[in-house]
Amino acid sequence: MQFWKPGTIGPGSLLDRASEAEDAVLSSAPMSTTLSLQAQKQRLPIFKHRDKLLRAIETHGVLIVVGQTGCGKTTQLPQFLYESGWAAEGSVIACTQPRRVAATSVATRVAVEVGSILGDEVGYTIRFEDLSDKHRTRIRYMTDGILFREALIDPLLSRYSVIMIDEAHERSVYTDLLLGVIKKIRQKRPALRLIVSSATIDAAAFLEYFSSGSPPGDVMVASLEGRMYPVEVAYLREPTPDYVQTAAEVVNNIHTHNGPGDILVFLTGREEIERCLQYLSEVVSQFPQNLPTFSPLPLYSGLGTAEQLQVFAPMQPGVRKVIISTNIAETSVTIDGIKYVVDSGFVKLRTYNPTTLLSSLSIVKTSAASAAQRAGRAGRTSSGVCHRLYPSFVLESLPVATSPELTRTDLTTPILRLKSLGIDDLMKFEWVTSPPAESVLRAIEGLVASGMLDAEGRLTDMGEKVAECPVDVNIARMLFTSKGFRCGDEILSIAAMTTVQDVFVIPDGAPGALAELERRKFTAEEGDHITLLNAYNGFIKYGKSSSWCRSHALSFRAMSRAVSVRSQLKKYMHRFSLPIESCDGDARRLRQCLVTGYWQNSAKWCEDGTYVSVQGKISLSVHPNSVLFTRKPKSGWVIYHEMEETKKKQIRVLTEIEPEWLLEHGYKLRDNHTST
Ligand code: CDP
Ligand code: MG
Repeated sequence: MQFWKPGTIGPGSLLDRASEAEDAVLSSAPMSTTLSLQAQKQRLPIFKHRDKLLRAIETHGVLIVVGQTGCGKTTQLPQFLYESGWAAEGSVIACTQPRRVAATSVATRVAVEVGSILGDEVGYTIRFEDLSDKHRTRIRYMTDGILFREALIDPLLSRYSVIMIDEAHERSVYTDLLLGVIKKIRQKRPALRLIVSSATIDAAAFLEYFSSGSPPGDVMVASLEGRMYPVEVAYLREPTPDYVQTAAEVVNNIHTHNGPGDILVFLTGREEIERCLQYLSEVVSQFPQNLPTFSPLPLYSGLGTAEQLQVFAPMQPGVRKVIISTNIAETSVTIDGIKYVVDSGFVKLRTYNPTTLLSSLSIVKTSAASAAQRAGRAGRTSSGVCHRLYPSFVLESLPVATSPELTRTDLTTPILRLKSLGIDDLMKFEWVTSPPAESVLRAIEGLVASGMLDAEGRLTDMGEKVAECPVDVNIARMLFTSKGFRCGDEILSIAAMTTVQDVFVIPDGAPGALAELERRKFTAEEGDHITLLNAYNGFIKYGKSSSWCRSHALSFRAMSRAVSVRSQLKKYMHRFSLPIESCDGDARRLRQCLVTGYWQNSAKWCEDGTYVSVQGKISLSVHPNSVLFTRKPKSGWVIYHEMEETKKKQIRVLTEIEPEWLLEHGYKLRDNHTST
């Protein structure tokens, strides 16, 4: 274990000291055990500003709300609006979240506070999961992507009286697009109120964006001054080669040497979180019985709702809660009682290179704004400590803030949807931040090549339908082309399986090798897509049973979700009159159909066992989970579902193809600009 060099984020620097009066309230025993829900609620800092906020919404079209995480913006503001009549006469209050987990956990909480059954007065809608009622729901939490897609059907978003774009500082693609679209809608429907909730540093930019072209005084910033306790910051003296292992060591150190208080660890994704949990469970299992213990809990977006909610539940007395989270817990989700934060200093971000057309998830350093935000999680209820798992000099090399997602993502799907909204001239669209021209051009080229736009850039018939589908353009395209290959049945299952994450799991206590053996039972030599299909078919054949999943190293939750996703995608197939035929085991036809969707993700095998991408000639390795991990495909060519960049660029979910199919179903189209 390295030495720590402490420093403090103290009064007058990043975070303000709480007032004496608040100290008294906040340092009382854990709220959930001593106070009723109503009383707990009323103690949230936002209540002091209730009337001010409601007046502001009466008199202003756009309200930018800035306030400390945990002060009650997400859970309370929609309730204030509801109580004061903003959801009268059938109208709805929407609150968007960039993350699914935030939408579901917050809706669950607010339903309890309002005394509603989830899905009744208070509901949520995320992709493939709608727990809201068309007529009865008054407060609707949803992901920003869902609200954006709703604008395709209801261009004035006429059901909504108020739309709150929450976590706007995250600048997710659909948050940015929604801000632009709502600005436009408000010109036609000024009665629509917009609330933008944002971290301090971005408020000025949003104010400027909405002020331009608006009547004077229409936009207002409301600042709910946040109070925080001081957070002491400690750094590693030397960089660590493995921050996951170090994080576990630090947690154990805090637990054995420091007083009570829960611990929040920031890692980048599920695999790291599980590895850390593994280390920590070993540690816990060796604790002597009479010593206080801790309970490690994961938090990431792929988790089931019940597991997510566990992190909010109080522990048994004397047990310390240790939450191992992705950056979800940075702003989207507030967990009370955290006194110690362990920050890896890294985050997983989607990045896109328009020159190579490669989109990937990469693990990169957090921004300085994120680092401060993460540290702040330790100072919500009392003073706290943040352990940063990097030396202090690294801080200077961190970017100030994370760049908007629109500037670093593949724009194919978003641009198709903008076109479908009737925004033809993308140059005239009021972007909050303009995306790189090259990304826009590449997206348009790709859309023309795959027949979604015609040569003049106008939406085709297929393009219009695909824009409505809740999956990416490449997957939607396969649903359409499956007609020609007579394999709609299988493509539907594959499309559903690729939208759910973490299908193959290692059952509790079972050795990894056993899981591997189970997985082999589904293995198709053609690759992972058909392996996923086999798993899906097995699940259906054996009655969708959870014990069957357990004995076959499959996640019951993921499989059940795939069933639900499939049935929803099937409705789109029916609506677009696409036949659902089976290819009856003709894997060749099926793989050709896959090429029509994935042709831009194609790669060729190299002698050393790696691959080189067809576009951009980038060197790629195969993810160890792939059935093609150690095997050379006979043809030497594959298509893949996605690429993830950690220490190297890894491709996941591969299928072997014949190279001529690329010409037939992808690249040739691109040259001729013909549609299918
Ligand atoms: O949006 P903001 O960060 O301002 O706060 P919030 O998410 O509305 O949270 C207000 C309070 O409700 C916090 O103290 C949370 O810990 C609590 N909360 C909770 O106990 N359970 C949830 N599922 C969500 C929030
Ligand atoms: Mg919030």
